[in-house]
Amino acid sequence: MGDSSPKCLRDSLRQALSRREEKLCRRKLTVLPSSSVDFSSNDFLSLSTSPTFRARFLDHLKQAPPFHPFASGGSRLLDGNSTYSEELEGFIAAFHNAPSGLLFNSGFDANVGVFSTIPQPGDLIVYDELIHASAHEGMRLSRAEKRVKFSHSSPESLENVLHAELLTDPQLHDGRRNVFIAIESVYSMDGDVAPIREFIEVVDRLLPRKNGYFIVDEAHATGVFGPRGAGVVQQLGVEDRMFIRTHTFGKALASHGAIVLCCPDTRDYLVNYARTLIYTTALGFPFLASIRSAYELLVEGETEQLQCKLGQLIVYFRSRLDSLSSWSSSIIEVDHFSNSPIFSLRSRVPRQLASFCQQEGYNARAIMPPTVPTGQERVRVCLHAGNTVEEIDGLVETIEMWLDQTEKKTARL
Ligand SMILES: Cc1ncc(COP(=O)(O)O)c(C=O)c1O
Repeated sequence: MGDSSPKCLRDSLRQALSRREEKLCRRKLTVLPSSSVDFSSNDFLSLSTSPTFRARFLDHLKQAPPFHPFASGGSRLLDGNSTYSEELEGFIAAFHNAPSGLLFNSGFDANVGVFSTIPQPGDLIVYDELIHASAHEGMRLSRAEKRVKFSHSSPESLENVLHAELLTDPQLHDGRRNVFIAIESVYSMDGDVAPIREFIEVVDRLLPRKNGYFIVDEAHATGVFGPRGAGVVQQLGVEDRMFIRTHTFGKALASHGAIVLCCPDTRDYLVNYARTLIYTTALGFPFLASIRSAYELLVEGETEQLQCKLGQLIVYFRSRLDSLSSWSSSIIEVDHFSNSPIFSLRSRVPRQLASFCQQEGYNARAIMPPTVPTGQERVRVCLHAGNTVEEIDGLVETIEMWLDQTEKKTARL
């Protein structure tokens, strides 16, 4: 390698970053003051700062016998497995009315593991156009014959896509090949809930040979939606119609990792083939204890009051936003799905709005392409059970101030 290579490489990296800078989509790591009010994180139930959660977690840690290893020491297939992790999988699966479950180190790993291995050669994956990057990563590695997207949360579009594919591939029609339908139950950026029943109806009608398999990601529903936070699928009572459900623990459950809920054969298959499970060190005891603590609180109904408080704040924030007089100026447009803690304030200048809020002590973030499609930039506001009415009032007043200033500036131009 010549002397110039490293510089050459650095130049290419810098050029790529400059291109992002020009397109106003260069990402940067930022740390906001810890005193700022959280209107951004996915800690929807505010469990990460809950004294009840903390006490339960510390209690689990204290109960560990002396010299109990805190690190897992290896892959689940080698030294990283334990009775504790297997019992935890059974405990979570029972809560979710699932036959079995398999823990992964993150939701990202779970999705990559599932999508890269389960669809077989010749199979078709149809996916919602707004599916998470981790599902895309898994699909990219998958051996499926074809991947086709359908319009976001549109049963009609799913029907059209399936119809077209069935016409071209008789093996899909007669059930010799499988179709995987990849969706999320609650979408991370818009906070909207997928029309799962309508999707099931389409799949039942078009794939009567029962070769249509749903893979649903409940990352943003976990802890927040459904009975005791069990998710949208359980709210609808369609557990047996989902081939795979993935629940992640890094959002409302204030922990780390994910579980793939599936039948024992699928679990066994993943243990054998999912490289994101096999070739990585398993979660250590503190991580498992944290997940256990969160699920105990769900099972015992301890989080129901948090779900309820969050629901009240959602209604309140929505009503405050509805009464924002400056809306007519169309500087911001609010996008919100009822009951969802995620709100989108669509704006052409989301970075300005977000940084104004941050300066006033409210942590809300601008979401830019490529995280969302161009034209759909927004400030994403997330509510939490721990937010107060006064904090919401403060945020709304800050948005009003910004709108006022922006309107005046626009008028001067
Ligand atoms: C829908 C969805 N799936 C999966 C993930 C990844 O989960 P994790 O953060 O546990 O890797 C995320 C989180 O960003 C997500 O929003």
